[in-house]
Amino acid sequence: MNRDHAEFLALRDQLLDLLAAQTTGGKLDDLLDELLEHTRKHFAEEEKQMRETGFPPYPVHKGEHERVLAEMSARIERWRHGRDTAALRDWIDQAVGDWFVNHVGTMDAISAEFIAMRQRGR
Ligand SMILES: [Fe+2]
Repeated sequence: MNRDHAEFLALRDQLLDLLAAQTTGGKLDDLLDELLEHTRKHFAEEEKQMRETGFPPYPVHKGEHERVLAEMSARIERWRHGRDTAALRDWIDQAVGDWFVNHVGTMDAISAEFIAMRQRGR
């Protein structure tokens, strides 16, 4: 889980660098696709572990994942149509950053603790 989280942050940094450098071509689009794909895979993996260990608040955590994926897809779609660099940068910088810190610190932390406890056989 932590390795995935580091990867997510690295992708976010790369996107912010490209935006700061005013790069708006195919590389940025590829990276956005990569971020979405990475996030989708990471969520699926977390959800699998939660299901396997019978994590009680699973629906809440999964619901949050679904909300985030829907928003991410919508944002990327909007970017493709409007090419609004400032809007994209603000979203990645603020919303994505805040969400990430909050999600990892709350839902992921609780789930990871539960999964680890179950794996130790308690
Ligand atoms: Fe999560």
